Formats: sequence, C-alpha cells, structure tokens
Amino acid sequence: MIHEIASDIYYVGINNRSKELFESLWPVPSGVSYNSYLILDEKVALVDACDLNMIQEYADQLENLLNGRPVDYLIINHMEPDHSGAIKMLRQMYPDMKIIGNLKTFGMLKGFYSIEDNLHQVADGDTLTLGKHTLRFILTPMLHWPETMMTYESTTETLFSGDAFGCFGALNGNPVDKNIDTTPYWDEMRRYYAAIVGKYGIPVQTALKKLKDIPLSRICSTHGPVWEEQLADAIAAYDRYSRYEGEDGVVIAYGSMYGNTGQLAEKIAEQLSRRGVKKIIIHNVSVSEPSQILSDIFRYKGLILGAPVYNNALFPKMESLLMDIRSRQIANRVYACFGSYVWTRNALNRLSEFGNEMKWKSATVHVCQECSCDLRSQDGCVQLASSFTDLLNGE
Ligand SMILES: Cc1cc2nc3c(=O)[nH]c(=O)nc-3n(C[C@H](O)[C@H](O)[C@H](O)COP(=O)(O)O)c2cc1C
Ligand SMILES: [Fe+2]
Ligand SMILES: [Fe+2]
Repeated sequence: MIHEIASDIYYVGINNRSKELFESLWPVPSGVSYNSYLILDEKVALVDACDLNMIQEYADQLENLLNGRPVDYLIINHMEPDHSGAIKMLRQMYPDMKIIGNLKTFGMLKGFYSIEDNLHQVADGDTLTLGKHTLRFILTPMLHWPETMMTYESTTETLFSGDAFGCFGALNGNPVDKNIDTTPYWDEMRRYYAAIVGKYGIPVQTALKKLKDIPLSRICSTHGPVWEEQLADAIAAYDRYSRYEGEDGVVIAYGSMYGNTGQLAEKIAEQLSRRGVKKIIIHNVSVSEPSQILSDIFRYKGLILGAPVYNNALFPKMESLLMDIRSRQIANRVYACFGSYVWTRNALNRLSEFGNEMKWKSATVHVCQECSCDLRSQDGCVQLASSFTDLLNGE
C-alpha cells in the first residue's frame, strides 16, 4: 500500500494475510502489516523495511514510487527479521544506499546479513538532513531488542517508533487512524504488547520519558495504524501497560482435566459477581490462546489462578502460563488461587508461592479441594471471593 502520510513522507508497508503465527508463536487471524516509510527529499530515505517473504511486492512498490531514483539512506530502527529481512535485497537494488544504525545495529547486520560496508553509525540525539526534512535518532534500547531506536522527523513532527505502539492486524485500505475504524486495533495493540514487549516495562518507561517533550503529530510504528488523531491514546496505553496498571476487573485462569477445578472457577466467578465485580474474564488454559490470556492479565488488576496437581507438580499448561507471567514480570496484581488434588496438595502450594514470588497482594483464603467440588470447597469459594474482593476494594 502506498499512501502519503505527511509532506513527501509515504507509507510503503505490506500486509501479510497468510501468516498464521507471528514469531511462530502468536496467532494473527487478521494478518499483520510490516510498515515501512519512504521520505522523498534531496536525499531519499527509507525507514525500516519488511520481511523477506514479502520482498517482491515491497520492491515493486518502492520502484513505482521512486520512478528511477535510488534510495540514499536506509534507516534501521530495529533488526528483527520481520523488518530487516529485505535489507540484502535492497542493497542489491540500490548499491550505494548507506545504512544508518547504531553500534548494536551493526553487530546484528553483520551477523544476519554479513553486511559491513557503507554504514553510517549514529548515537543518541544525532541528526541527518535530507534536504527539507531532518531526522533525529533516539536510542530506545530493549524495546524490545538491544539495538532498537526511533527516528524523529522534525519538520512534520513524525516519529518512526519501530515496534513500539504497534499492533497485530493487517491494514485495510489506508494506514492512518483518522481514515479507518481503529476499534479492533486497540485490543490487538495490548495483545502485541503482552506477547512481545511485555517484559520490558522499564525500558518502555525510559523511552516514554525521552519522548515527553518532543512535539508529535504522528507516530509511525512498524505494525498497524499510523497514530495521528489517537496518538495520545496510544502513548497513554503504553504508559499504562509498562507501569502494569490494571483496570477494574478480574481474570480467572484455570486448568482442569475432568472439570472439578473448572467447577471451582465457576463458583468463584459467581461469588465475585455477587460482590459486585462486573468484569470477569474466565480462561480455560487448555483452550484459550496464551497471548489472549496474557493480554487480559495485562488489562485487569485482579488475577485468580487455579489448577490440579499433575504428576506431583502443577498442571503443565498452568506451569507454562506461570512462566509467561514471570518472564513478563507482571506487577501490581491482586491475587488468589485454587486447586484440586487426590493425594498430594502441592499444586496449590506452587500457586500460592507464585503469588509471593511476584510480590502480588494475595487474598488470605485459597481453596484446595480434594477430589471433587463438594460443599466444603464451595464454601471455600465464598470465603475466597470475600477475601479477594476486600483486597480489590482496598479494604
Ligand atoms: C496424569 C495425572 C497425574 C496426576 N497426578 C497427581 C498427583 O501427583 N497428585 C495428586 O494429588 N493428584 C494427581 N492427579 C489427580 C488430579 O489432580 C485430580 O484428579 C484432580 O481432581 C483433577 O482435577 P480436574 O477434575 O479439574 O481435572 C493426577 C491426575 C492425572 C490425570
Ligand atoms: Fe520486533
Ligand atoms: Fe516487528
């Protein structure tokens, strides 16, 4: 898709609607866009590229727009192959093209593509003039790779932000938020964040502080819409996610082989509802997709986990969820847990220790049921919900 987003700055990204799993992990039922931008000035600069799989469509698009002119500079904000895959081919198409990156970029450029020549290394705050347009480079390490940086074009107040503020979901007809219905992209921004950026809350906060005093008219990320009208909402969303700030609501995620732990989940939900909790999301960890569970955990401040004992340990799908939560260092949750066993109680111990490890505020009551959901375990759910909602309401 070619679309002029600001004076002589063109969106030249490509949609991929056939990819099933982004990073071979995360489902993308609405596809994904690899966004790239071309600045036509006295010098021509390309900001980020695309995946190798989409190279033909991408190259044709560039040639159409360039009308015989070469690309003078390729700015690499991020070396992950969904954006850098096209670099080798671009070098063949435009042999004099200078590649702009930072010290860390160039180590990866050599490692991935054996490219070591015609490079221009930039440091934080360095500028590059193209003619009318001037670019400034803002290093934002670990967002979500070590070399990640952003590029700011000052005359149009355009920020090329790399993966930050990006979403899953291909673009339908137009890249700019004001021209499209952005409703589906907001959930996909949170799911993208939860899946891919979620571990890097502190680097995201550092980057947001660096951006604070920079006048912005649009943010051009490498996936999903260009944020113009809703730019402030995108920044506010990243601020919330990276501070692990949860909205009112509770996620109950449980594992269950034969339904007994599942019954506890239902009982707990009923009890929460009786106590006025309106937003309750229940995930069966064997059915719900992990990035969707993580996305909801990022969204809501209440979290209740439940699972049976399995081979003297925790039900494996729940253990996997714990690993996903721990690796993202999700903080500030109000927590309770429940579980089932027949002869060893250790699943619940594992779940309650996990809450301590994460330094979450834990309810004083957890439910540990033997064999089936009897009257005693149902009473436990009442106690758990009471203790949990007290904590949620800050009592
Ligand atoms: C493969 C397998 C391994 C299990 N290992 C244990 C165990 O080590 N200790 C234990 O107390 N119960 C164990 N159980 C029993 C379950 O924890 C128990 O049946 C529980 O009620 C299952 O809850 P559910 O109905 O929600 O699946 C195991 C069950 C299965 C199928
Ligand atoms: Fe990335
Ligand atoms: Fe990306």
